[in-house]
Amino acid sequence: MTAAIIDGNALSAEIRAKLAERAATLNANGVSPCLAVILVGEDPASAVYVRNKVAACEKAGVRSLRDVYAADVDPAVVFARIAALNADPTVHGILVQLPLPKNFDSNAVLEAIAPAKDVDGFHAENVGALMQGNPRFIPCTPYGVMEMLKSRNVNLKGAEVVIVGRSNIVGKPMAMLLLAQSATVTICHSQSRDLAFHTRRADVLVAAVGRAKMITGDMIKPGATVIDVGINRLPAEQGGKLCGDVDFESAKEVAGLITPVPGGVGPMTITMLLANTIESAERVAGEKA
Ligand code: GUN
Repeated sequence: MTAAIIDGNALSAEIRAKLAERAATLNANGVSPCLAVILVGEDPASAVYVRNKVAACEKAGVRSLRDVYAADVDPAVVFARIAALNADPTVHGILVQLPLPKNFDSNAVLEAIAPAKDVDGFHAENVGALMQGNPRFIPCTPYGVMEMLKSRNVNLKGAEVVIVGRSNIVGKPMAMLLLAQSATVTICHSQSRDLAFHTRRADVLVAAVGRAKMITGDMIKPGATVIDVGINRLPAEQGGKLCGDVDFESAKEVAGLITPVPGGVGPMTITMLLANTIESAERVAGEKA
C-alpha cells in the first residue's frame, strides 16, 4: 500500500486565498492588519523561518515589521521594543522567534507580549485559555495540523492519537486540541519506554521530536494517519537535504495518509500565523465598528 499525501502547500494556498480576501476587507475598512516579528541572534533556520513569515504576510496583504537583533543584544532593548509594539494600536500580532539566545529568559519574553497580540498563543494566559477549551489564539503548528486532519475528514472521536514530543510549541497544545475533539491522546517523549509499542497503536501519529527519520514504517499501524512536524537538515555527507522526524520512504508503505517534508506541516504553520494575525485585526476592527 502507498499512503495518500496531505499536501500542505495546496491546502495552504486554498486557505491563504480566503485569508487574503479577509485582509483586503480589513484594508478597505481602514484597518491594515500588521504582524511584528522579532528575531534575536543568527540561527540560520530561524532567519529562514522569519523571512518566510514576512514574505507570506506581504503576499496575503498583511503588513509586517521585522526587528533583527544581534545575539548579544541587551535583553532590555528587546523588552522595550515589545512594550512599544504592545502600545502601538496599528500592530495586531507580535511574534518573537524561538529559540532565543541563552542569556534570555524565554518565558519572561513571551509573558511580556500583550496576550491580545500573542498570535503564537504562547503567553500563559492564552495557554490557559486553550487548556480550558476556550482558545484566544491557537498555536500555529498544532492549528495547522488540525486543519490538515479536517481537510481529509480524519475521524478523531474516540481515535487513538499518539504524539511524540512534549514541547510547549507543538506537543502540549496539540494534545489539548485533539482532546477537545474527543480523541484518546498519548504523549510520548525521550524518556518513554518502548516508543514503538505506543506508536503502533496509533490511528493518528504526530511526530514532533526534532530527530531525523526516527519514526520508521515498522512503528506505524497499517492505514494510520501520519503527521510529520519535524524539519531536520541532514548532514552534508547524507546530502544536506531537509527531512522530517518520519522516515517517509518506509512510512508511506504502511500509512493511509501522510504529510511530506518539505511541503507538509511547514507551510501550514505560516498559514495559521496569517489566520491568527487577521483574526486579531478583525477583533480590533469589530471593537471600532
Ligand atoms: N520556533 C519554532 N516554531 C516556532 C513558532 O511556531 N513560533 C515561534 N515564535 N518560534 C518558533
